[in-house]
Amino acid sequence: MDRTVVLITGCSSGIGLHLALRLASDPSQSFKVYATLRDLRAQGPLWEAARSRGCPPGSLETLQLDVRDADSVAAARARVTEGRVDVLVCNAGRGLLGPLEAHTAGSVGSVLDVNVAGTVRTLQAFLPDMKRRRSGRVLVTGSMGGLMGLPFNAVYCASKFAIEGLCESLAVLLPPFGVHVSLIECGPVRTAFLEKLEGVVGGVLDGADAETRHLFSRYQRHLERIFREAAQDPEEVTEVGVGRGPRAPRPALRYFSTESFLPLAHLRLADPSGCSYVAAMHRAVFTEEPAEEPTAAASGGSALRAPPAAAAPQ
Ligand SMILES: NC(=O)c1ccc[n+]([C@@H]2O[C@H](COP(=O)([O-])OP(=O)(O)OC[C@H]3O[C@@H](n4cnc5c(N)ncnc54)[C@H](OP(=O)(O)O)[C@@H]3O)[C@@H](O)[C@H]2O)c1
Repeated sequence: MDRTVVLITGCSSGIGLHLALRLASDPSQSFKVYATLRDLRAQGPLWEAARSRGCPPGSLETLQLDVRDADSVAAARARVTEGRVDVLVCNAGRGLLGPLEAHTAGSVGSVLDVNVAGTVRTLQAFLPDMKRRRSGRVLVTGSMGGLMGLPFNAVYCASKFAIEGLCESLAVLLPPFGVHVSLIECGPVRTAFLEKLEGVVGGVLDGADAETRHLFSRYQRHLERIFREAAQDPEEVTEVGVGRGPRAPRPALRYFSTESFLPLAHLRLADPSGCSYVAAMHRAVFTEEPAEEPTAAASGGSALRAPPAAAAPQ
């Protein structure tokens, strides 16, 4: 039986690397994984992990693919020896953190190029063949930052909101072609993401006023707390991708790797004015929790949950 051919972007670390390993080492031995990397010099950790996971020979291959470069995407496609990709995983992405006015034009352009135009380029390269063959699965790494605005993540959120629109639009069009698009919606995940942010954290903070800089340092504390209390390991996210995307008979548009932030997402929809969400998120990020209240982790929840007072439209 033909193996399922999977091509994944952004496999030097994090979710892409773990998904490639998970599929290549699947006991069914039914996947052939093309793990693609922007820079093949970064493939060492992937192969090291593949050896220790015992990925069978021929289950994993690496290809150079920089999503910013259409020629690189086309060259990677041409090197898929099976001549088809059954499951395309658009995972490559970059973060950008800080006050909007502190970002350089270069870093803004780069994040939008990788996260939005890069995903479009990848889809443009692989979708026509899937449509022709009337079969294909597309998984895209989404983010809670694509479902709700997060302070000091404005450009990153803009890029991930764009991905939501892109995927939702395609998901409406493609089922008659036998092609299904799914987003794996992630909360915070322990990967190299925060180390690989575009530019330095906050850019040139001198470009922002003192009050904004103060709020940014509060946000950074909030972010640390969120990662401490609610972050998932990439393996957990990977299981969602493996279990639902490639094999589900009728794939959904969205799969959530965690339910921690769903109350806030519901709040956004429950009050279309946006006022309730804005107030709840502002409180969650910028208001310190009173010392006597149980911490989010101790109460089994997450700092991403909507505070009870904010759960009803205001
Ligand atoms: N970690 C989180 O908290 C989180 C939460 C929600 C969503 N996500 C999303 O998950 C996806 C994977 O991120 P991660 O958390 O696994 O972080 P990561 O470890 O930083 O992985 C990001 C991957 O994207 C690659 N990449 C960056 N620019 C690229 C380009 N131009 N062409 C090809 N590949 C490129 C990186 O390669 P290089 O090493 O070569 O730069 C790296 O392999 C991203 O789309 C991110 O937005 C992450």
